Amino acid sequence: MGVRITDSVTWVGKIDWELQKFHGEEYSTFKGSSYNSYLVRDEKTVLIDTVYRPYAKEFVAQLEHEIDLDSIDYIIANHAEVDHSGAMPELMERIPNVPIYCSPQAVKSLKGHYHKDWDFRPVKTGDTLALGAKTITFVNAAMLHWPDSMFSYLDKENILFSNDAFGHHLASARMFNDLVDEGELMHECMKYYANILTPFNKLVVKKIHEVVGFGLPVDYIMPSHGIIWRDNPLQIVHKYLEWAEDYQEKQVVVLYDTMWNSTRDMAECIAEGIRKASPELEVKLFNVGQRDKNEVILEVFKSRLVVAGSSTINKGILSGMAGLLEMIKGLGFKNKFGAAFGSYGWSGEGAGIVSEWLEKSGFEMLAEPLKVLWKPDEEARAQCEAYGAQLAERL
Ligand code: FEO
Repeated sequence: MGVRITDSVTWVGKIDWELQKFHGEEYSTFKGSSYNSYLVRDEKTVLIDTVYRPYAKEFVAQLEHEIDLDSIDYIIANHAEVDHSGAMPELMERIPNVPIYCSPQAVKSLKGHYHKDWDFRPVKTGDTLALGAKTITFVNAAMLHWPDSMFSYLDKENILFSNDAFGHHLASARMFNDLVDEGELMHECMKYYANILTPFNKLVVKKIHEVVGFGLPVDYIMPSHGIIWRDNPLQIVHKYLEWAEDYQEKQVVVLYDTMWNSTRDMAECIAEGIRKASPELEVKLFNVGQRDKNEVILEVFKSRLVVAGSSTINKGILSGMAGLLEMIKGLGFKNKFGAAFGSYGWSGEGAGIVSEWLEKSGFEMLAEPLKVLWKPDEEARAQCEAYGAQLAERL
């Protein structure tokens, strides 16, 4: 069932209440998500994006309730990833000659995904599509977050269709930002930014300044996941600018992966040392073998110092920590400090390996890695606490 958003825009997407994992297993979506598709009606009618492939038949059936498919004049594909283009094959079976406006890169991506020779109309920044009284202007948004990403701007109603940018994984039938819990919304937005957009910080800033430079009024931001920004819509743009500047809070995160809790004991003592030395810092601990990795990445994003530890196993580190360190390296965090620790029984490589990972991920290491043989005794616990204090002082 479509939801009327403005005089000309109707939401025709899909709220996915069940979704728990996204990008394969790479992103946790505990609050579900939505795939927002928008129908814009003027003298001409345009459909902006579709939905994820498993909902393709449902999407086309619902769309038929909303509009005669043959009256759709244009399709805009702001992004080719399958959560937005997945219903295109089903739809194009019905309306095969409707032109598809997208970036030149999206032509390649869509052909790569679906191997169809649809009527692609590649567009670049500043190109327009006249709908009648209103006009859509395209803005290339390469690497926010794929090479093919694009924004579309509808004048008169001043709507930025931003696709993934400014989106979040939050299922809600309330549709608008002023109708949902603000804390929950911003948590999901920041998690989304930390886990997906961090590598593109510089491009985020550049693109926002470019779009702001056009001087276009923005009354709505309509992303392709989550709710629509209508109450102070630019608040999320300002947040992106803040987050893109190597964001951090007065927070330290102590991450550990542990076999028999010796490395956990070290983590708790190090955290205690940091807290005592710098009470103004919030210090959080996470057992990365047990916690959701995307929520942990969010805490890394917010932290100035990341202290990470692993027991040694087979001359290496535990798999939970290894997976997390791979994610941290890929996200390319900047302007963060690091330190490493770990307990061991005989060979003891763990702490050093974690330290090397953090260093090659761009962290400035504040100290040599700290190793403790077997279970920390009182002396080792004091050593860990002193290590934490030393980190806090050097921070
Ligand atoms: Fe929501 Fe990049 O897909």
